[in-house]
Amino acid sequence: MRLYANRAVLAIVFWFAIAVVVTASHDFPLRWGPVLGVLTDSSVEISWCFEQPAYGAIRYTTKDEYQKTHVMHFLIPSPVKEELHHVCLTDLTPATAYVFQVILTEKDRELVGPIGEFTTAPKADDTFTFLVWGDTHAGKTDSVFEYVANQMAHDSSHPLFAVAVGDLVHRSTETHWRTFFNGIYNLALSTPILAVPGNHELLIQCEDCDSTLYFDYLQLPQGGGIADEEWWSITYGDVLLVGLNTCAVGVTNGRLVWPPGQFQWLEETLSTSSANVKIVFTHFPMYSSGMKNGRFSRDGVNVCLEEDLKHILIKGGVNLFINGHIHSYQHIYRDGIHFVTTGGGGCFYENPYRVKTEGEVKWIEHVYHYLRITICENRVTVQMIGVGEWDGTSLIPYAKPKCLDEFVIIKR
Ligand SMILES: [Fe+2]
Repeated sequence: MRLYANRAVLAIVFWFAIAVVVTASHDFPLRWGPVLGVLTDSSVEISWCFEQPAYGAIRYTTKDEYQKTHVMHFLIPSPVKEELHHVCLTDLTPATAYVFQVILTEKDRELVGPIGEFTTAPKADDTFTFLVWGDTHAGKTDSVFEYVANQMAHDSSHPLFAVAVGDLVHRSTETHWRTFFNGIYNLALSTPILAVPGNHELLIQCEDCDSTLYFDYLQLPQGGGIADEEWWSITYGDVLLVGLNTCAVGVTNGRLVWPPGQFQWLEETLSTSSANVKIVFTHFPMYSSGMKNGRFSRDGVNVCLEEDLKHILIKGGVNLFINGHIHSYQHIYRDGIHFVTTGGGGCFYENPYRVKTEGEVKWIEHVYHYLRITICENRVTVQMIGVGEWDGTSLIPYAKPKCLDEFVIIKR
């Protein structure tokens, strides 16, 4: 359920909000969250899950106002008594910092949750930074992925948002999703989270697995497929971001079959966009120096993705293709497109499939990391930020995060 603010409701709930008794609680009954979702220059989604069905709300105001008055003037109710809540704040001012908190509303009192913050997107071509990371595998390597996410939460660039490129959870169970959201608590309280699905969300089967949880829990830009979130696009200034689902839905005549309609939607989205920079996020790589040889791949090449998708990327002017799945960092440059694998969010395995594929620029193995991407007036800078190393059994943290690779894309 999504709720949208309107000014009449705001006025009513404002007076209601200051009439009730406000009770701060150190035991605020959240199963997980709050988690910031899709952000625009005038809106943001916020999700949370109570331990029990309850009425909830979001209170918010600008950060400037809060620092002066210590009051959050606006309150948007989520009027259904349930565990999972999604609220959309609208009519916000571009490029403005806001603070918010989740409220549990009972008959005559409120329990007040933690204070989060976000900054709305800039209106035009301003400089901004965002982060990308992959393969956290919550439920398998909990302390490690939590460490990486906390390093991201403290990134000095104050990123506008972060994109997870699949395998957020090891199994798509309520338990593993709870572990994921609790592990990224500090990050999601200050940084809107976007995502694309990986095989561990959609394809891995288990007794308690439910692939619909990805779509129930995450609030992503609109596009198409399941819940209109299976693939999506959003534009910030002159940058188009596209998220795809590269988990095949089947096999026909020895070829992978992609979600129906997705690649036609992609062609249309790319051709109608006037953005100077186009970035695509997927879980599965098209090229990887660490890709297993198998039925659908030859050394370093995902054959079906290359044949079915690459011509669309080239024709559509895509500059940068970012994926997860392979648990390492790779930068490959082919056919005018930068292909980056970022799979260092929390889970490493020994990789016996090292083959140097055509166009390889950089390969870094066993370093927990994320990407910091900075959009400036005339260029895009991609940095790989390492936060620690895997010694074969555990995480060895760096004294402080360090940039281990960097490249620049000049805008068209
Ligand atoms: Fe993975």
